[in-house]
Amino acid sequence: MELLKAIKERKSIRAFKPDIIPEETLKGILTLATLAPSAINLQPWELYVVSGEEKERLSRRLLKSYREKQISCSPGNVKLLEEKFTKRGVASFELMNPYLERLGVEFNRFINEGSCNFYGAPTAIIICLDNSFSKARLVDIGILLGYITLIAYDFGLGTCPIGLISAYEDDIKELLNIPENKDVIIGIAIGYPDWTSPINEFKTPRDSIESFVKWIE
Ligand SMILES: Cc1cc2nc3c(=O)[nH]c(=O)nc-3n(C[C@H](O)[C@H](O)[C@H](O)COP(=O)(O)O)c2cc1C
Repeated sequence: MELLKAIKERKSIRAFKPDIIPEETLKGILTLATLAPSAINLQPWELYVVSGEEKERLSRRLLKSYREKQISCSPGNVKLLEEKFTKRGVASFELMNPYLERLGVEFNRFINEGSCNFYGAPTAIIICLDNSFSKARLVDIGILLGYITLIAYDFGLGTCPIGLISAYEDDIKELLNIPENKDVIIGIAIGYPDWTSPINEFKTPRDSIESFVKWIE
């Protein structure tokens, strides 16, 4: 598949078929994703690929914690953020509402509980980073995430990055036996998209580059 086609067509998928992903497919995607650049070729990422009953156990634990603690997806310190950023997020997510109405679910519940459940995907990828690395290494993780989402698309799979789960890092680390000195940076829901679900018709818009680029010459 042409790279630009994948870039244009990829979008976050929030309803999956239960079909399991063959191990060779997951290995193929991750092997290609390691071609992502990283500073000094450190390849600082550490991945946990969670499927089957273990993935269900992880989802159950995250859902339980979410219901107890009610920590939602948040962009950061909303009070200090420039309004244009928060407005952009709100506007994007308002566009999701008509699709959720067709599903008969309320937005917050869908996003928060859905994220904890990896939207029903058969596999969850948890990306960790050793806490001795500097904050700058998060850039490398971001690039890897981008590679995984695009490569998965090429393999006919859908993905949704799940940042919400980092709020429940302790639960994840305990359940997956992740060492204390590793930080949980991001999760990825990965699986075959359920194209019968209205939510997978949703596609977010983008602002024009003029809204965030300053040209200096
Ligand atoms: C770092 C990161 C964290 C994200 N966390 C979540 C999440 O917790 N739950 C969710 O439903 N989507 C999450 N997303 C998906 C974004 O909402 C999505 O990428 C954005 O709205 C743009 O839509 P698109 O991916 O369809 O182009 C996350 C995306 C990124 C890059």
